[in-house]
Amino acid sequence: VTDESITIGGQTYAADAFTNVTPTILEKTTRQLHLLPTHPIAIIKDRISSSFPGFKHYDQFSPVVTTKQNFDDLCFADDHPGRSVTDTYYVNNKIMLRTHTSAHQSQTLAEADRLLITADVYRRDEIDASHYPVFHQMEGAELFDVNTVVQDVRKILETSGSKMSSTGAATAATGAVAAATTSGNAIHTTDTTVISAENPKQDCHSEEVMLATADHLKHSLNQMIRNLFSDEKELQVRWIDAYFPFTSPSWEMEIFYQGEWLEVLGCGVIRQDILNNAGKSDKVGWAFGLGLERLAMVLFGIPDIRLFWSTDARFLKQFQPGQIQKFKSFSKYPPCIKDISFWTVPGFHENNFCEIVRDVAGDIVEDVRLIDEFTHPKTKKRSVCYRINYRSMDRNVTNAEINEIQERLRATVVDKLKVELR
Ligand code: PHE
Repeated sequence: VTDESITIGGQTYAADAFTNVTPTILEKTTRQLHLLPTHPIAIIKDRISSSFPGFKHYDQFSPVVTTKQNFDDLCFADDHPGRSVTDTYYVNNKIMLRTHTSAHQSQTLAEADRLLITADVYRRDEIDASHYPVFHQMEGAELFDVNTVVQDVRKILETSGSKMSSTGAATAATGAVAAATTSGNAIHTTDTTVISAENPKQDCHSEEVMLATADHLKHSLNQMIRNLFSDEKELQVRWIDAYFPFTSPSWEMEIFYQGEWLEVLGCGVIRQDILNNAGKSDKVGWAFGLGLERLAMVLFGIPDIRLFWSTDARFLKQFQPGQIQKFKSFSKYPPCIKDISFWTVPGFHENNFCEIVRDVAGDIVEDVRLIDEFTHPKTKKRSVCYRINYRSMDRNVTNAEINEIQERLRATVVDKLKVELR
């Protein structure tokens, strides 16, 4: 792809050996689902932002960012796997499609102490009903004066009937807030996380300051999730320890849905370096980032992530601004299943294969699954067989049309991946 150029949103960029954005992905940058008032993504976005009154809300940022914004500014190590071309869409070696809304933390923290960021984000990923290479995130952050955060948070928590977590213990728990807000409207929150060497406070923060910040963070997010799920009869929520390069300590919130714990957000105490670089060295703060599709799928009962991208009126006409209501599915059409087997080559990565499937076949592919693999005892060559499930969301597909796509896929796989079909 070298010697070519890529145009996104009227801007032209030079391609290089890193370039791996595809036309299918670039088309998505113009859709801006979070800005369509009747779209489930925007409805959830508005509902969440109502839990953060007075926060400055940024929702117009271009998805094209620098690797500095997406990684370096957020303290990602040079060899962090997230930087790899198999996981990230690069325009060229310096310019990429953001993989998270945190890419805008530095610039927005320089401007505001209480902020939200909503945007489309891009990740090369597997194909199934809950993964799509484009999705939407909402970021939130709040800063406090280092010198008053302890009193400020104590006052806020007292008003809502909660107590602060206590300092002193080697493994100070931050669960005090969760316990106090557990019995509201049948939303059960458990928090068994501990501050430890695996999930430490930053050296520059006193334990008191870190705990006050963490308590306020969990308090705010517990309130947000209760507000969001206020119509649900029952909800189980839990906090678990996590790791992010740009927060410490860090946590994830999960909700129990259809027999599984679903990760809904990541959060933590912002790395002080990030605040210092934003000119906010007298502040301490928290940040979170959540996935809007996950929450919308649960709240609207939307079974397949591709539906968010539908332009079918049977989907779009179902929703009204401000209203969370259950999605009425339209009929499912029968699938058409095709297998493809090939000898892989060194450096073969499944995401590269999936990328070609998306490019050749688009949204007509519901699922790609590795159903067989083996290594030849003599030649040591590895053979894989992928099963591709073709199914349209809104019409019957014919075997003839799928055969044609499958033929094109086979040719493209040989051409691009240099593998040998079996
Ligand atoms: N950016 C993180 C992600 O995409 C989420 C996050 C945001 C975590 C802010 C901590 C603080 O997974």
